[in-house]
Amino acid sequence: MRISRRCSVASSVVPAAISAQGLRRTYGDVVAVDSLDLEVAAGEIYGFLGPNGAGKSTAVRMLCTLASLTAGRASVAGYDVVSQGDRVRLSIGVALQDAALDGKLTGRETLMLQGRYYGLEKRSIATRIQELAPLLEMDAIDRRVSTYSGGMKRRLDLAAALMHNPEVLFLDEPTTGLDPISRAVVWEQIRRLNRDLGMTIFLTTQYLEEADALTHRVGILDHGRLVAEGVPDELKRTVGSDVVVARVTGDPEVAAEAIGGVPGISHIEIYGNEVSAATGDGASVISPVAVALSAAGVEVLDLSIHPTTLDDVFLELTGARIEVEE
Ligand SMILES: Nc1ncnc2c1ncn2[C@@H]1O[C@H](COP(=O)(O)OP(=O)(O)OP(=O)(O)O)[C@@H](O)[C@H]1O
Ligand SMILES: [Mg+2]
Repeated sequence: MRISRRCSVASSVVPAAISAQGLRRTYGDVVAVDSLDLEVAAGEIYGFLGPNGAGKSTAVRMLCTLASLTAGRASVAGYDVVSQGDRVRLSIGVALQDAALDGKLTGRETLMLQGRYYGLEKRSIATRIQELAPLLEMDAIDRRVSTYSGGMKRRLDLAAALMHNPEVLFLDEPTTGLDPISRAVVWEQIRRLNRDLGMTIFLTTQYLEEADALTHRVGILDHGRLVAEGVPDELKRTVGSDVVVARVTGDPEVAAEAIGGVPGISHIEIYGNEVSAATGDGASVISPVAVALSAAGVEVLDLSIHPTTLDDVFLELTGARIEVEE
């Protein structure tokens, strides 16, 4: 099945918050990022999705002025990352994959230092810390960072990146290693920053669920190259089908024939006592499938829909999976 390499990118009159043309970075013989073109509109949440080693962190580091460009050009918040690096750094907040925090400082000291670095006054620093409290464990804020758990460190690092209310926020795998509650807190903060402040957010993730839940658009990176880009639902539609699976007790051939008579089913396969039917829209055929099976006298153990995932998109494009099956 063919898939268009690029889905439509919303054209916008607002200048792009992040723009890159032909971005490339090599380390010796390794091409970490290759020919990367990007346009992220102001106010967008854009997700970079890809397996280990795809080049996600390298791309983020170049956009944040933390790694030099081998070729190409990029601008963030309207400033060139090479010739106007200082302006870029003042406009962005960055929480990298490996939070570089000083264990000897307390959480509060970390945030105060960050605030002062951006020229905030003492009073506004205190106010910001209160505003960022949902991300922090306030009981532990006066404890040394070396005593924090991994998840606490990540959330502190995110809060530090937000101290100066940046225009563009870069998050490299913001929820890796977080428990489900911490992950929900971080998701909620990302949504709030985007909704209430219009902050542009560029995040990388290996979690398809996270890209689906949070981002307006995703770019799928593989071996340093952007292999697809678009709205998650749009990308999934280009790959096509949901699969409706019926586990039956009787003859699966009878079940397959009954399901085959339902309009909207494009393809049927039988595996043991399971009958899988591909369809454009699982939700709308599931009831007719149940009715057809019942009318044919087939006893159904289980009937489920497996929607197309971004992983299916990735598999279609690269022949590999992003996420290891859990
Ligand atoms: N400082 C470096 N020196 C040498 N090679 C590097 C360096 N940084 C990255 N690379 C290489 O560039 C490639 C892309 O790495 P990168 O860290 O950008 O991937 P990633 O998509 O962020 O992966 P992960 O999901 O594991 O974080 C890898 O092959 C990596 O080994
Ligand atoms: Mg990385």
